[in-house]
Amino acid sequence: MDNVTRAKWDKAAPTFDIMAGRGAEQRWRPFKQALFNNMDGKILFLALGTGLDIETFPPQKNITAIDISPKMLEVARPRVAAYDGEIDVKVADVHELDFADDSFDQIFTSCTFCSVPRPVEGLISLRRVLKPGGELYMFEHTGSRYYPFKFMMNLMTLLTRRIGPEMNRTTVANVRAAGFEIQEVNNLFMDVVKTIRAIKPA
Ligand SMILES: C[S@@+](CC[C@H](N)C(=O)[O-])C[C@H]1O[C@@H](n2cnc3c(N)ncnc32)[C@H](O)[C@@H]1O
Repeated sequence: MDNVTRAKWDKAAPTFDIMAGRGAEQRWRPFKQALFNNMDGKILFLALGTGLDIETFPPQKNITAIDISPKMLEVARPRVAAYDGEIDVKVADVHELDFADDSFDQIFTSCTFCSVPRPVEGLISLRRVLKPGGELYMFEHTGSRYYPFKFMMNLMTLLTRRIGPEMNRTTVANVRAAGFEIQEVNNLFMDVVKTIRAIKPA
């Protein structure tokens, strides 16, 4: 377990909803909802955090949700309890998953790979537990291609990486480097966030 990352997010837990629950999160909500509407079969949700995303999950799904931070998951508890379906919550580091190979039909992530310390290794770990032909759906902060935003995000990352995320990652390239086939990328909000759909080759 990566105790440094865990401690960083445990510390962020009490104020996370105030910092993240408004503003951008409200604007992203319809895009997250559209992505999560693809949920089907046996699902792994990486980085449940305080569970802000749960409201946008379709009902009656069978979801295993993990996060490295027990304190984030503690805040998520009432949202998990209110979900109309199954959410099985576990503390786990994406780099050290103890699920069997080929366990899940689909994996979803939301604002995660800006925070995972070794993103390609984390993605390789996800590929292992996904069934061949299974789908990875991501909603992620990434570096923007557009100059003012690219510059701004590089600058912001100098600060944000101390408390949590790095806003300028090359996540599409990382997904490819981890052995997935990219099926679809949607650049949202001047490319500051993206939705990505990829598959584990059969
Ligand atoms: C920016 S928050 C996003 C939470 C939630 N998905 C949302 O959008 O509200 C990032 C989350 O990633 C989790 N995380 C960071 N590194 C992780 C790792 N190595 N394994 C599992 N979870 C991790 C953190 O604990 C935190 O809850």
